[in-house]
Amino acid sequence: MRQRNIKNLEERLAANSAFLIEDPRACKGRWAEVFGNDNPIMLEIGCGKGKFIISHASDNPDVNYIAVEGQSSVVLRALEKAEEGKLSNLRIFIDFVHDLGDYLEEGELSGLYLNFSDPWPKARHAKRRLTYRKNLENYRKVMKPDAAIEFKTDNEGLFEFSLEEIAAAGYNILEMTRDLHSPESEDLYESAKYTTEYEDKFSATGKNINYVKF
Ligand SMILES: C[S@@+](CC[C@H](N)C(=O)[O-])C[C@H]1O[C@@H](n2cnc3c(N)ncnc32)[C@H](O)[C@@H]1O
Repeated sequence: MRQRNIKNLEERLAANSAFLIEDPRACKGRWAEVFGNDNPIMLEIGCGKGKFIISHASDNPDVNYIAVEGQSSVVLRALEKAEEGKLSNLRIFIDFVHDLGDYLEEGELSGLYLNFSDPWPKARHAKRRLTYRKNLENYRKVMKPDAAIEFKTDNEGLFEFSLEEIAAAGYNILEMTRDLHSPESEDLYESAKYTTEYEDKFSATGKNINYVKF
């Protein structure tokens, strides 16, 4: 997602900071305190403008959600929407994630979403892909034993790569389809119900959406 020049970005972020976590590293091991309850915590890396996580948070008040986005100009819209919806079960922070262990204690996470992650098409950049095996191993450290990861992408090459990495990292595939928005998949997978901005854009052109839960 391209960074746009947003007028008065800092001021607008400050004006919409009710759900913004300024120091997410300080929340490590105490997210239950941040949310004020022991409900399960799900996290999305690269939430963009937040459509996906906002719908989840609206539909599931008994689940807590953390949305992370590296670009502040992109995440501003998510912060505005969180305030409009008064979503007390959602927190957002701005950072490019390298190690989830910087923000979460072992076993603190009940689920992880990776939606339309940057493909990093050059082979020499493979380690930067969020589904690179070392990253998948890293996520496991902060996830509960029964927690799952959901990954969606329009990018066939990234999907093939990710399936190899999922196997290499020792995960079992729980759900998978190459066409999440076919009528059969729409009936089968709850993930079809929660779409992202990128997903809507690609689906509108007839592009198939790849989905795997593991
Ligand atoms: C292609 S966009 C997809 C946005 C959104 N998930 C969607 O589907 O509409 C990828 C987003 O992930 C963010 N991103 C990429 N790597 C990230 C990282 N390591 N930590 C946080 N955000 C990241 C980018 O800034 C960008 O906004």
